[in-house]
Amino acid sequence: MSDSEDDDVPRLSSHALAALQEFYSEQKQQSDPGGDDKYNIGIIEENWQLSQFWYSQETALRLAKEAIAAAGDCGRIACVSAPSVYQKLRELHREDFSIYIFEYDKRFAIYGEEFIFYDYNNPLDLPEKIAAHSFDIVIADPPYLSEECLRKTSETIKYLTQGKILLCTGAVMEEEAAKLLGVKMCKFIPKHTRTLGNEFRCYVNYDSGLDREISV
Ligand SMILES: C[S@@+](CC[C@H](N)C(=O)[O-])C[C@H]1O[C@@H](n2cnc3c(N)ncnc32)[C@H](O)[C@@H]1O
Repeated sequence: MSDSEDDDVPRLSSHALAALQEFYSEQKQQSDPGGDDKYNIGIIEENWQLSQFWYSQETALRLAKEAIAAAGDCGRIACVSAPSVYQKLRELHREDFSIYIFEYDKRFAIYGEEFIFYDYNNPLDLPEKIAAHSFDIVIADPPYLSEECLRKTSETIKYLTQGKILLCTGAVMEEEAAKLLGVKMCKFIPKHTRTLGNEFRCYVNYDSGLDREISV
């Protein structure tokens, strides 16, 4: 190819090339995030259509530590519609714990065998490998602040748990939560990465550290 022909080939400016490079590496990370990055909260962006509001780092860490303490040595933890807690637990490298993420959003299938597709509308439609009452603790944060959503999610929670329940939902759900799951509101107040219009609270049915402190 002569110099003059080469000059005719359209070229991208260095800025455009850098932007393109960044775009491709972001795409790659979304489809195949590697190493510990895979467990960063926010690696999967919030989709508000699915009522996704991620916890702050501090809250996710506090809830993950609570799950570890409540589950006991080599325990089994179910994160139901609470993907940030799953991510934080895995970021902590607690390979001694068996942890599953029950989620409707299939982007979380990047977590392989630990991802269980779950739709609260079909509360007991779970794979055979998920035995009844096989989790030491279930942490759940249902997508909607409605009696129907909490009632159906409660069916899943009661199926999965051996006893302990940690529920995060709106303060307005206090009465329903007590009726459906026998849980009571904790002093600890969960925080999100964004300011939400509704007050959120944690609820438990066991003696929990979350009830002995007011904030993270
Ligand atoms: C209020 S968010 C709770 C997330 C939590 N704050 C966290 O940071 O992990 C509700 C969750 O329910 C999930 N979700 C949406 N539709 C659902 C459905 N039909 N069944 C089960 N979960 C659903 C969302 O993907 C989201 O993870």
